[in-house]
Amino acid sequence: MSAKQVSIKSCINLEELEARAGQILPAASFDYYRGGACDESTLRENREAYRRIKLKPRMLRDVSKIKKNLTIFDCELSTPIMVAPMAFQMLAHKDGELATARASANRKTLMTVSTLSTCSLEEVREASDFDLWFQLYVYKDREITRDLVSRAEASGYKALVVTVDSPVLGKREKDIKNRFDLPANLTVKNLTLHNLEKFPDEGDDSGLSTYIASIYDRSLTYKDLSWIASLTNLPVLVKGVLRADDALQALDSGARGIVVSNHGGRQLDTAVSTIEALPEVVEAVNGRAPIIVDGGIRRGTDVLKAIAFGASAVYVGRPVLWGLALDGKEGVEMVLDLINEEFENAMTLAGASSLEEVTRDLIFQSRGEI
Ligand code: GLV
Repeated sequence: MSAKQVSIKSCINLEELEARAGQILPAASFDYYRGGACDESTLRENREAYRRIKLKPRMLRDVSKIKKNLTIFDCELSTPIMVAPMAFQMLAHKDGELATARASANRKTLMTVSTLSTCSLEEVREASDFDLWFQLYVYKDREITRDLVSRAEASGYKALVVTVDSPVLGKREKDIKNRFDLPANLTVKNLTLHNLEKFPDEGDDSGLSTYIASIYDRSLTYKDLSWIASLTNLPVLVKGVLRADDALQALDSGARGIVVSNHGGRQLDTAVSTIEALPEVVEAVNGRAPIIVDGGIRRGTDVLKAIAFGASAVYVGRPVLWGLALDGKEGVEMVLDLINEEFENAMTLAGASSLEEVTRDLIFQSRGEI
């Protein structure tokens, strides 16, 4: 066993894995993954808000068997903990998205593959024998968007997750200082056909920020969401919603699922934490569509709280990259195992033997919601 494996095996939780990953990743890559926008208030709040929520566990329930499997858009999953879309995974490990996809498949866990992958969506699809979703950014050049949608559908992805919180990139000061760029051997592989696989070679900003400013469509509205939904038979989820009115308008425009997200605190700083935004969205959607929440989930109890507040599933992001950086596919499996074991432990101790029993009454309410 290598020294690296020994050190990752000794990590007992996801925060320890982050610290270990910080020791081995190049500083600019670690900063890119770990960082948030401006003062990183939302990045911190995503975590802090979970810590503030207290649980009210039930006693003397039969918790000898715990069931946490679910079906979402016909995908049969072993767990509501899913792998969030994350860009440029070959910065973390040479096997990049392929390793994450294989690990997710081995754990019957849903992975959403990013438009900004360093492996093509077809290569990732090939690498996995389990359901995958595809995350979509909308480009000014609508032919690019159309092409990505049809390639995702043709290669067998099961849903599209349209990110709507990034008309421009948030001000990520670490990336600006580092002039974040992809190394020469890595590309935005899905965009090769459109000659957009490299960041432009200009400016003092983060290369990603310049890239996005030049090609993403800032004029996007709900009308365009209807257009995307009309391009495909796949269910479309909208990622980046923090308000009830946006959730309802998205559903009225053809979306079939909502992802409550502030992009891991990487876009609008001081935006509300996702777990605090969730209840109003759940109330408005009122069971019409599945709701997924991401942002700051590092403990099994965080997953329990998100589901108690009405999420169908959660996305875990950065910790997956820490596992990937430390030990490739096995590292991702370790991350998924750690958080799933904690979640089962939390369900057992809270007196909930199935996801249906993870309900709002498990949340302690003193004054106000959270
Ligand atoms: C890409 O989606 C990023 O947040 O950097």
